[in-house]
Amino acid sequence: MGIRLSLAGTVLASLVCLGICILPMPGVAKVTGQCAQCHTMHNSQGGDPMAVDIAGNPQSTPNETLLRYGCVACHTGTNDGTNNIPYVNSTTAPTYGTDGTTGNTLAGGNFYWVAAAGGASDAMGHNVASDSLATQDATLGNTPPGGTGPLASQLTCAGTTGCHGDRSQDSDFGAMSGTHHADDTIIDGTSVARSYRFLNGVLGLEDPDWEYLPTATAHNQYRGFDRTSDTELAAGSISNLCAQCHNDFHNGSGNVGGTAPAANPFSSPWVRHPTDFDMGNTAAGSEYRNYGGAGVNAYVVSAPVASVDVSTVLSTVTFNDDTIVTCISCHRAHGTPYPDLLRWDYSLISAGGGGSGGCFECHTTKN
Ligand code: HEC
Ligand code: HEC
Ligand code: HEC
Ligand code: HEC
Ligand code: HEC
Repeated sequence: MGIRLSLAGTVLASLVCLGICILPMPGVAKVTGQCAQCHTMHNSQGGDPMAVDIAGNPQSTPNETLLRYGCVACHTGTNDGTNNIPYVNSTTAPTYGTDGTTGNTLAGGNFYWVAAAGGASDAMGHNVASDSLATQDATLGNTPPGGTGPLASQLTCAGTTGCHGDRSQDSDFGAMSGTHHADDTIIDGTSVARSYRFLNGVLGLEDPDWEYLPTATAHNQYRGFDRTSDTELAAGSISNLCAQCHNDFHNGSGNVGGTAPAANPFSSPWVRHPTDFDMGNTAAGSEYRNYGGAGVNAYVVSAPVASVDVSTVLSTVTFNDDTIVTCISCHRAHGTPYPDLLRWDYSLISAGGGGSGGCFECHTTKN
């Protein structure tokens, strides 16, 4: 077979150029192309294996769903704004810039820095085992901070030990069955395919190029909740996804909500940074009202806020259920060049130093 998938740094011809899988239409994620470009019936052709690993080398072990590539192998490459596979791992250093909005990484960031190829810095990303992407986190093992205990095994892309797909299924492709061939024009959370980025039950509006060089008018619109209590799960929000493993950082009882007045339990002073909390709940003259610039209030792609209504992309915010703090206001899901998979270098953010970006996008008077 001469037709192969695009993998960065390898000699494989481009899947994109050969016209597989390409549907760059907004919201529509449905693969196209000859079956043989992605599937192999026996992992054998002329007696040689058809499956290939991340590095593009033949792989004698067959993949699930008769695929020639695992999740990571297919999703490894270099984004250039025209690729129709979202690349979340690269074999050479991606360009990131100061906050991941000016380089060639996508909304979730990139596994490069946590993967062996990028130096295997455990704190720079989720240590995903699929396709032998990364080894187990030497500090955290398989235990999510803020969670209820270790996962059954190392993190995977999808399934019980992963983020994508049906989290009751124990394998990557079992959890993702029926997603890539489905029409997901409508995101209503009723199936994995019809969930935001195949994150089961999560809602949101999908930027068609996965936030390649995002702007205030071209970005994902994340689903958030304007909660009034720390015990609300906010199911369907992007933060609820993170809370499925890091629950205490988002919801729960006991000391999670702190000692705020019973009449208004979900308020300052906080005991952990608020999420699924709308900045519209702060006083009219608060520092938060200058998010996106005083009087301008443009959506800030480097410190994104979520909204209750995700039917349109918001280029400006109104502090009425559209300025909701989320886990990914500060983090990126896959990885970044910075510890704790933060969007920006936290070590460079100092009070009173006249700085900008990062925390200062919301805490506009602390610089
Ligand atoms: C044979 C190649 C291939 C394999 C294997 C593969 N993907 Fe994909 N994936 C694609 C292509 C092509 C797209 C873009 C078209 C689409 O969205 O379906 C995509 C899109 C996605 C998206 C974005 C969907 C959206 O809403 O934009 C996610 C998330 C994803 N894949 C996750 C996975 C996971 C998890 C696995 C492993 C269980 C996996 N993929 C395996 C090719 C692949
Ligand atoms: C399936 C469970 C699971 C989900 C869902 C999940 N995580 Fe994690 N997370 C883990 C585990 C396990 C670790 C520790 C091992 C590691 O870092 O790979 C971890 C580690 C982290 C770390 C610390 C990284 C380090 O190495 O110091 C951060 C930050 C983090 N997660 C943020 C998030 C965010 C943000 C989300 C939502 C986008 C999220 N997580 C969703 C399981 C999960
Ligand atoms: C661009 C890559 C690509 C092409 C081309 C492709 N598939 Fe797939 N297919 C996938 C991926 C990735 C999965 C695994 C995720 C899932 O189940 O949706 C999959 C899953 C499947 C499944 C199991 C899940 C389901 O939806 O039923 C079947 C059956 C299948 N493909 C058949 C086909 C056939 C038949 C063709 C050709 C007509 C084809 N595929 C072409 C990527 C591709
Ligand atoms: C306001 C920015 C911000 C928000 C919002 C935020 N985080 Fe963090 N997170 C940080 C920073 C900064 C750190 C570094 C450690 C610290 O300062 O506590 C961190 C650290 C972490 C860690 C690593 C803890 C450890 O023990 O290594 C995890 C896991 C984590 N965050 C998950 C989450 C989850 C899940 C959410 C949403 C419920 C979330 N974060 C929301 C900024 C944030
Ligand atoms: C997306 C906007 C946003 C970002 C980014 C953000 N914060 Fe916050 N932060 C808030 C909001 C909103 C509150 C709650 C304010 C209130 O209740 O009055 C808050 C609360 C806090 C509090 C607790 C204040 C209290 O009264 O208990 C601290 C401390 C804090 N943030 C620090 C940080 C730091 C440090 C960073 C960067 C790592 C950061 N924040 C990034 C929006 C943000």
